[in-house]
Amino acid sequence: MRDILIAPSVLSADFGNLQRDIEMINNSEADWFHVDIMDGVFVPNISFGMPVLEAISRHAKKTIDVHLMIVNPDPYIKTFAALGANNLSVHYEACTHLHRTLQAIKAEGMKAGVAINPHTNVNLLEDVIKDIDLVCVMSVNPGFGGQSFIENTYDKIRKLKELIIKNNAPTLIEIDGGVNDKNAAALVAAGADVLVAGNFVFKAPNPPQAISGLKLAASK
Ligand code: DX5
Ligand code: ZN
Repeated sequence: MRDILIAPSVLSADFGNLQRDIEMINNSEADWFHVDIMDGVFVPNISFGMPVLEAISRHAKKTIDVHLMIVNPDPYIKTFAALGANNLSVHYEACTHLHRTLQAIKAEGMKAGVAINPHTNVNLLEDVIKDIDLVCVMSVNPGFGGQSFIENTYDKIRKLKELIIKNNAPTLIEIDGGVNDKNAAALVAAGADVLVAGNFVFKAPNPPQAISGLKLAASK
């Protein structure tokens, strides 16, 4: 059985108690911190920026997986590396020179990720798949936590998995949006390697238990 990674999304944390929520993730069965950065241009919402990422990094003891929902990410790549990002995902739809952007991310020692919106066909990644460490398949329209999972995602995961195998690429498949203990097993069966979960974790009565529950559901 492959090891499925669980990445709680800090977007749904309590920002008045951010250190507490980070320690909770440190002490849980979670594998990564998923950190959503939104600019109010690429998506219709603004989340938080560099100072908050710096605060997260100061306390986080696990991989920091940054999901940029911003236009023109290139000028900020070095800064994200300096602030402790281990993985940096940019949106396919926001990058005119995606290949160049991926190389720039790797040059800073980070894993290079590409996030794709629900309407973006996975085959558009074919010519660059070998350069991608992580594809973040959006299973909601990006911008907000707590939205409903889009069912078409399963087909996209299967197609993406085929593309990865065909190209003998090292790419992990991450699913982001509306993930819970009901859809986890089907997502893994379709080919998912990493499950992001915001509301499912942070709105649960017992978040560490929700994380363990998701890990267990993903391994079935
Ligand atoms: C949405 C973000 C997600 C979000 C997931 O734009 O990229 O990471 O926090 O939250 P849930 O799991 O609540 O859908
Ligand atoms: Zn995200």
